Amino acid sequence: MADELITLIPAGPEDVAGIVDLCLSVERQHEAYWPLRWQLRGDLGPRYHRWLESNLAAPRWLILCAKAGTSAAAAPSLVGVLVAAIQEEIPIYSYREYAFIHDMAVVVEYRRRGVANQLLQEARRWAGEKGVNQIRAMVAVKNDAASKLFGHAGYRATYQEMVQSIGDLGEAALTFSFLSHRRGSGGRAVPGGNGRGF
Ligand SMILES: CC(C)(COP(=O)(O)OP(=O)(O)OC[C@H]1O[C@@H](n2cnc3c(N)ncnc32)[C@H](O)[C@@H]1OP(=O)(O)O)[C@@H](O)C(=O)NCCC(=O)NCCS
Repeated sequence: MADELITLIPAGPEDVAGIVDLCLSVERQHEAYWPLRWQLRGDLGPRYHRWLESNLAAPRWLILCAKAGTSAAAAPSLVGVLVAAIQEEIPIYSYREYAFIHDMAVVVEYRRRGVANQLLQEARRWAGEKGVNQIRAMVAVKNDAASKLFGHAGYRATYQEMVQSIGDLGEAALTFSFLSHRRGSGGRAVPGGNGRGF
C-alpha cells in the first residue's frame, strides 16, 4: 500500500457497481443513525445503479473516482468516490445555481490518507469551471468524521435540519389540551383547528 499511487479519474461504466456499493454503505450508515429519517427502499441498489449510469456523461454531473494502483499493468482499484451535480436554487437568492455533493465515501483501508480531501479539492475546481459561486454538502450531525473533513476543507455549517416524528403528535396535542384546561381557558377553539379544543 505504501508505494501505491492514488489518482482521480471520472467514472466509467465499469466503475458503477463499485461506486454503488460505496454509496450504499454511506446510506446504511445514515439509516443506522435514525431509521425514521433515513430508512432505505428495498430496491435502492438497482435504482442507484440506473441513476448513476444515466448521469455518467451528463455535463452538469461529476462522478469522480479515486483509484489506487502499484503498477501500470495492474488495474487500479476503486478506493473512493465523490458524486456532485449542479442544482438550481429557489428563486429568492442573487445566484441561480450551486454545486451539490450528493455522495462521498472512501474505502475503510484508505481513510486518513487525504483521499477525501483530494476529491473535495477537485470538486471545488470543477464547480468553479461550471461558473457557480458555491459548493454544498449535507452532513449528518452524527457524522463526526465527515463534519471534521468538511471543516478541514473550508466548508462552513449553515442550516441544521430539524426533524420530529409525527408519531408523537397525539401525545403532544393531549398535553397542550390538558394545560389550557388547567389555566382556565377551557381549551379554546382555534379557527381551522381540528375540533378537539385546540
Ligand atoms: C468521511 C470520509 C469520506 C473521510 O475520508 P478520508 O479519505 O479518510 O479523509 P481525509 O484523509 O481526506 O481527511 C482529511 C481531514 O479530514 C478530517 N478527518 C477525516 N476523517 C476523520 C475522522 N475519522 N476523525 C477526525 N477527523 C477526520 C481530518 O482533519 C483529516 O485531516 P488529517 O488526517 O490530516 O487529520 C470517510 O471517513 C468515509 O468514507 N466515511 C464514511 C462515509 C461518509 O461519512 N461520507 C460522508 C457523507 S457526507
